[in-house]
Amino acid sequence: MFKRTCLAVVVMIAATGAQAQTAPWMNTALSPDQRADLIVAELTRAEKLVLVHGYFGDDVIINPHYPPPPDAIRKALPRAAGYIPGIPRLGIPAQLETDASLGVSNQRHMRPGDTATALPATLLTASSWNPQLAFQVGSVVGQETRDKGFNILLNGGVDLARDPRNGRNFEYAGEDPLLAGSVVGEAIRGAQSRHIISTAKHYAVNDQEIGRDWLSSNLGEKAMRESDLLAFEIAIEKGAPGSIMCAYNRVNGVYSCESDFLLNKVLKGDWGYPGYVMSDWGGVHSTTRAALAGLDQESAFEFDRDDYFGAALNAALDGPDGAALQARLDNMVHRILRSLFAAGLFDDPPVAGASDVEAHGAVAQAAAEEGIVLLKNARGLLPLMAGAKRIAVIGGHADIGVLSGGGSAQVMPVGNAPEQEILVGGAAQDASGKSRIPREKMIYDPPSPLAAIKAEALGKVVFDDGSDLAHAAATARGADVAIVFVERWQREGIDTPDITLPGNQDALIAAVAKANKRVIVVLETGNPVAMPWLENVGAVLEAWYPGNRGATAIARILFGKVNPSGRLPITFPQSLEQLPRPVVPGRDLRQPDNRWTPNETLFDVDYSLEGADIGYKWFAAKKLTPLFPFGHGLSYTTFAFSGLSVSGSEVSFDVRNTGKRAGKAVGQVYAATPVAGERLVAFGKVELKPGETKHITLTLDPRLLASFDVAAQMWRVAAGDYAFRLGASAAETSATATVHLEASTIKP
Ligand code: BGC
Repeated sequence: MFKRTCLAVVVMIAATGAQAQTAPWMNTALSPDQRADLIVAELTRAEKLVLVHGYFGDDVIINPHYPPPPDAIRKALPRAAGYIPGIPRLGIPAQLETDASLGVSNQRHMRPGDTATALPATLLTASSWNPQLAFQVGSVVGQETRDKGFNILLNGGVDLARDPRNGRNFEYAGEDPLLAGSVVGEAIRGAQSRHIISTAKHYAVNDQEIGRDWLSSNLGEKAMRESDLLAFEIAIEKGAPGSIMCAYNRVNGVYSCESDFLLNKVLKGDWGYPGYVMSDWGGVHSTTRAALAGLDQESAFEFDRDDYFGAALNAALDGPDGAALQARLDNMVHRILRSLFAAGLFDDPPVAGASDVEAHGAVAQAAAEEGIVLLKNARGLLPLMAGAKRIAVIGGHADIGVLSGGGSAQVMPVGNAPEQEILVGGAAQDASGKSRIPREKMIYDPPSPLAAIKAEALGKVVFDDGSDLAHAAATARGADVAIVFVERWQREGIDTPDITLPGNQDALIAAVAKANKRVIVVLETGNPVAMPWLENVGAVLEAWYPGNRGATAIARILFGKVNPSGRLPITFPQSLEQLPRPVVPGRDLRQPDNRWTPNETLFDVDYSLEGADIGYKWFAAKKLTPLFPFGHGLSYTTFAFSGLSVSGSEVSFDVRNTGKRAGKAVGQVYAATPVAGERLVAFGKVELKPGETKHITLTLDPRLLASFDVAAQMWRVAAGDYAFRLGASAAETSATATVHLEASTIKP
């Protein structure tokens, strides 16, 4: 036995040695950059062009001017969101890209019958305030990416929630750069731990969907560095994503994918990012400009107006900018290959096979159980006693599943069945008379909340679909407790005009609350919503889009098997009037059919109104009281925070469980600098038994105590007194400390 093992080892070493001789870049002792250099030296110009030019992986070729990709590519299953051919003679693998904000996506059933674990929405993972959990979620998505034979994941949405109507907020991690950057960074690190490339997107300030191809996000550099860019900076530091996706929108008038400031200066220069920048699908608008500004790869060229990094780049290489473009082309392929090596795509290529959906479901459930937020719980209505004799479950399609978000992130969940798909769209019209919502399906993730509640309850559980208010009220009247499920569907490409629950849902809750004193509302939404009925209901649970095990998590929280520990990553406003922009900019402009429409459709969004003061910072600056503040979330136990102390780069405090149940507390430390308002500077989640006290020490990131000095191009900590505040949310104070800091600077 021993001999045989030795022989096998010798054979392996010999094979590796031979491979290293013919393919020296396969020597794992070399750095990714050294390995990339070796292989780039072997590439012909034509091969380099292959690597920077992506195809759409779907069969739908939307640009009539270009032929579909060659047959070889079409056969390269699994069908992907994007495809870049490999170079077989050098062993360079094809790049097979899939979307995966919430699990490996399969929008429009591109791969019929192919399902994946639907993880909770990123907004929910952010609500856990637990970056370690985000790592686990990321590694599940990474593993399923491998299992399906993809090697590049288009996840990592870290745009900040400037607007609670943004159709993609569910794909992002809320309004705060520290929280969002930490959560998304860990999700990226988790995904890449499975030896695939993970992406951070959409760089940058892609903060609304309406007119995303035509709008310019306008704000000054200082504010941008302290908000949207800081979220990316933190996520990139923590996650080291192999790729960054530049966004559709322009920033201060320049397309993100041809912004020298965003790509060359900030990302690759100041932050020293070594990976590559891929475009969003249809986000390229030029060849030489984009290439010289720092774009490394054109994704799915069929979505662009021209074949910018294909035939056009080939021609430009022989033109007046040829020398600069040649240097860029070498650097583009170096960056791409470097990321392929760094993530392990050469050394440990994915092998398609079945996913362990049971184990992955357990992670999905753990995430949902930590991220669902208990917003209100009057007179201890929750947790429910298993013995309640009659429970009415009403509305929200609670008999089929939990809602998921739509667009490129759409996952076809494990257990998907036709009755869990509801056709929507074609209804809302814009000024041109066209539908704003394409006809597509809302997908509900099984199991159903009704089934999950039945599994927990000892008494009778009845269901009413909520379509008839009088009937629903009668159902509620006859029950010990009524659980009303309400929902708001969001999808990529569309922002909602308001924060109101659609249809008759507000009226439904009001009618049920009149009929029964014990009403629990469960929200399945991709954003904050207004709650005109809040005073009349006993409890409210924000479940966001909780994924494949979401219903189980909801039921276990309702019945007290799980003590809720989610905290809001986004402020719930009382009304639209409290927002910097009560109307979504561009809402009333004609929305053209495709992104190639010329200049007259361009418009500006003025983000300098709030600048870096997004969400709770805006509410504090304007002295507005939200419906629920950032960081808010209740537990079935109570916690006491005390003893805040700041020393050097550390902040510490005590947290004690003062209630009767074990639970998880989230300590949130905010600080006001001498020159600016409060921001979250540290947070930590900790589990405590009843009566237990723990001492928490957290590290402070000095950038969060600083302002960005644009003239000096560095972070500057002002000399003066810094007011630290410890609390259970942005609006609660448990302890304070004032610390004098001397002036200092930090290089970006
Ligand atoms: C989205 C990206 C996505 C890409 C590929 C685009 O429309 O903005 O987030 O990764 O499509 O599906």
